[in-house]
Amino acid sequence: MIFWRVKPLDDILATAERKALTRTLGAFQLTMLGIGAIIGTGIFVLTAEAATKAGPAMMVSFVIAATVCALAALCYAEIASMIPVSGSAYTYSYGTMGELVAWVVGWALVLEYAIAASAVSVGWSGYMVRLVEEIFNVVVPTTFTNGPFDKTPGLINLPAFGIALLVTVLLIVGTKESARFNAVLVFIKVAALALFIALAIPAIDAANFQPFAPNGFFAKNVVDPITGNMVTVGVAAAAASIFFAYVGFDAVSTAAEETINPQRNIPIGLIGSLAICTVIYLLVAAGAIGAVGAQPAGELASSKEALAFVLREIGHGWAGDLVAIAAGLALPSVVLMMMFGQTRIFFTMSRDGLLPSAFTKLHPKYGTPHVVTICTGVFVSLFAALFPVGALADISNSGTLFAFALVAIGVMILRRTQPDRARSFRTPLVWLVAPAATAGCIFLFFQLSGYTELMFLGWAAIGLVVYALYGYRKSHVGHPHLIPAE
Ligand code: ALA
Repeated sequence: MIFWRVKPLDDILATAERKALTRTLGAFQLTMLGIGAIIGTGIFVLTAEAATKAGPAMMVSFVIAATVCALAALCYAEIASMIPVSGSAYTYSYGTMGELVAWVVGWALVLEYAIAASAVSVGWSGYMVRLVEEIFNVVVPTTFTNGPFDKTPGLINLPAFGIALLVTVLLIVGTKESARFNAVLVFIKVAALALFIALAIPAIDAANFQPFAPNGFFAKNVVDPITGNMVTVGVAAAAASIFFAYVGFDAVSTAAEETINPQRNIPIGLIGSLAICTVIYLLVAAGAIGAVGAQPAGELASSKEALAFVLREIGHGWAGDLVAIAAGLALPSVVLMMMFGQTRIFFTMSRDGLLPSAFTKLHPKYGTPHVVTICTGVFVSLFAALFPVGALADISNSGTLFAFALVAIGVMILRRTQPDRARSFRTPLVWLVAPAATAGCIFLFFQLSGYTELMFLGWAAIGLVVYALYGYRKSHVGHPHLIPAE
């Protein structure tokens, strides 16, 4: 009963052909797009959050999150190369588990992409505000740099709001330009992390790794030593939060319809970008912990510009500034990729009739879906203006974990229902990898704070109401006569 209105895969591929986007992206650009979406607020900012939750054992949290992502990426690569259609997990669910599941996944992807874009905008703001203080000696009042729900409450996070709007404009102007712009920024942030590693690793002091796991392994609630509020801590809880740092590789799959030879290039982009980032992250985490320590009540834990803070602490203020400048220049590329993914998912849902058809309108001059981009931009900017980065990242993770689990389940279903369909990439040891990916996602989901899980449920409930009132009645699969004539 749940698996109703399953959209046949051949129909999915045909719909994609009907309202096609232009194919411009190759393997290199896709890998760059992946790295562009992955390296961001997670490593630059949330390293502090991970320290609060796990202490030096956040090293283990990074490994756990990377493992779950790698398992999920292997599943994504198979299904994305089989169904190279924008819409990612939403589209795959439509073809395997039917409309209701697909809708819920699509709705959860709004958390993954749009809320992630907000989180990264807030992370960017943290670096910029501190950098302006450092370079120009100007202290911007927290009223305009913190949202009302911050540890130090303000009124509105104006820099975060502004950057999200700016990115919206860039996206409307065009993907090709955006991808080129992205490649330069990827270079800048990888260079910044390399500089961090080169300076922090030699400063490692083994004593900084002790005590290693002051908050234990599994998620539990304690009083935050810094703010006095209740927080969820533990190595696994930190893994569930730092998972955010790896999210983004799947943005590669949302660009499937703009990719040349997607069957070959999508798996390369997905797995290549995740592998490169994992190596970088482990080195950065080791450097940060070893150089300054990472105890939950320590200074790293409360920094809003974690990596720059580490460098300043070990006497390389100039490098701290450089890393902050790099973050300032490069984090917007992550906002861009996340918003890009979001608009393409809405685009696909609208093409299926589940959202208003205005979302598939292309701009007469730029050829981009401008209506959906503007709506997404406004949503992202507002959340960025009001909420703190940690809460946004966790909520984003809840949606991502849900979507990843369903992708892994989708791969298993398709192996059973369509064993003979061409797969240019086959998930190795699929009957081990896909169940492990599913279990890993479920495990991390339940390591998030209770508040985050409630937000997820609330969002899903709203989604079901919207579906009942709109998508259910307008769906092209449910009502083929509603498909617009060509
Ligand atoms: N992984 C991306 C980041 O860390 C979303 O900012």
